[in-house]
Amino acid sequence: MADKIRILVVDDIVETRENLAKLIGFEPDMMIVASADGGKQAVEFAKRERPDVILMDINMPDMDGITATEIIANTVPESPVIMMSIQGEQDYLRRSMLAGAREFLVKPFSADELVNAIRHVHEIEKVKRQRYQQAAPSQQQPSLTSVLQPDRGRIITFFSPKGGVGRTTISTNLAVALHQSTGKPVVLVDGSLPFGDIAVILNMSPKAKTIADLVGSFDQVDAEVLESVLVQHSTGIKVLLAPPTPEAAELITGANIKKILETLREHYAFVVVDTWPSFQEQVLTMLDVADVILTLMTLEITSLKNVRVFMEIAEKLGYDEQKVQLVANRNDSSGGIKASDVEASLARKIPHTIVSDGRALVLAVNRGVPFVISHRDSQVAKDIFTLADKLSGASTTAAAGTATLQKAAPRQGLRLFGGAR
Ligand SMILES: Nc1ncnc2c1ncn2[C@@H]1O[C@H](COP(=O)(O)OP(=O)(O)O)[C@@H](O)[C@H]1O
Ligand SMILES: [Mg+2]
Repeated sequence: MADKIRILVVDDIVETRENLAKLIGFEPDMMIVASADGGKQAVEFAKRERPDVILMDINMPDMDGITATEIIANTVPESPVIMMSIQGEQDYLRRSMLAGAREFLVKPFSADELVNAIRHVHEIEKVKRQRYQQAAPSQQQPSLTSVLQPDRGRIITFFSPKGGVGRTTISTNLAVALHQSTGKPVVLVDGSLPFGDIAVILNMSPKAKTIADLVGSFDQVDAEVLESVLVQHSTGIKVLLAPPTPEAAELITGANIKKILETLREHYAFVVVDTWPSFQEQVLTMLDVADVILTLMTLEITSLKNVRVFMEIAEKLGYDEQKVQLVANRNDSSGGIKASDVEASLARKIPHTIVSDGRALVLAVNRGVPFVISHRDSQVAKDIFTLADKLSGASTTAAAGTATLQKAAPRQGLRLFGGAR
């Protein structure tokens, strides 16, 4: 019994509460622990029961669901809220996500949609808790390696809890920009293990070596072995490609990834890592070992919703604001919400922005050349170089923290426009 998902139902209409109870009653792993008829009671019951999931109606007479969600998100943050509303309430969707809701169900919804949403939200909350317990002891003091090896390279991991926001595009171009503007060795790691597409973006031979060539011999991995599977790109960067098939990705563990990244950072000034939207062990490792996690988002409500969940996880893992940095990609395309809304809602600054430029990107991809080279005068390329400057400036003055990051180093114009080096 203890393992059942404990649910609080909140709706002012008796029939709705009864219907929900009936649907949930069919699920052996779920149970309703309390039923509230309004926002005030919802807050009271949430504090008392600390449910695993709260199903919340929006329109209720005494206190509406959005206000109740806001209070619950602050007082009982471990109880995630799923908002229920009728169709056409777009503004409600926006407001409830800003208030802290995790999911949204549009009435009338099917039994499947309901239980899937409950399981999904509960699953993420569980990952958060487990990781918190695992991570807690190591948060006591800064890691020894960082104290002992001031010269090691910086691992920059691109993450986003949502697909299609530009991780692969931006990580590839940032790696090239870092190499161009610092002249230091850079390796790009396609950590999107099951779905890697850096090989395509960089126009690499289908026969090129990949991380899958290390499967079976991870125990012997050292700098030399690693070097033999890195691919040299014409831009001057090295690339560790993802396996050619998704099945091979399953043979690579978090520990393997850790060893690879730790070895690479001893020889490369910057290790730029692409990921895929997942909280699997391999991705969590790429996040753990990173010095900086560039969390890419677009200014859309779904993106905001997912980033919020990630920020909560990141906080529990002990990642501070210097480690997890938000990047608003396609900043000017009309996604519906403003950067200031997002900053207010997440209580976080967005220190980096990248404009939208579909034309430059498509042309660059068609030519198999990163746009920071083919369209280096475009605003989108300039934004990437600014990001590179901030990250490389920070590498020499890591202790100076966010203040340094905000103040970008002056751009070395000549170098940027002086051709590939
Ligand atoms: N700043 C941008 N301006 C215009 N299009 C962009 C921008 N960033 C990404 N895109 C486009 O968005 C799509 C998804 O990008 P991709 O890098 O594959 O995302 P992800 O790796 O996060 O799934 C691609 O078609 C890419 O060209
Ligand atoms: Mg990708």
